[in-house]
Amino acid sequence: MFEWNSNLEIGITEIDDQHRQLVILLNKLFNAMKSGSGRRILSDVFAELESYAIDHFTAEEALMAQYAYPEEDKHRAAHAEFKTKIETLKQESEKNDQNGLTIPVLLFLRQWLTDHIANTDQGLGDYLIRQNAS
Ligand SMILES: [Fe+2]
Repeated sequence: MFEWNSNLEIGITEIDDQHRQLVILLNKLFNAMKSGSGRRILSDVFAELESYAIDHFTAEEALMAQYAYPEEDKHRAAHAEFKTKIETLKQESEKNDQNGLTIPVLLFLRQWLTDHIANTDQGLGDYLIRQNAS
């Protein structure tokens, strides 16, 4: 179980709400794994992650462009890496029916929360608040 905490809160409501959705999805996968159904819901998790990445990164990138965020290129590159990693994990899991990739997916998402959201997005949030974007 991954708890939402103030390190994840960047202060921009639209973005924080979307980040909360990712925590909910991570916990859904974790709970399914505990009850032995992680593998069964994995394809749904990938589908949710793909649509999450499109909607959420589009929202963040629109704000970066609107407020001329100096770190935009680097931040966009991190989003592109997320999409590539999810795509790779999805393809691997489709190739390998016996050994589900639930643990690598879980670990990747947990790391994304602590690395990207708590640091990179936090930097974007600070900048946007200074620009009165909230
Ligand atoms: Fe981001």
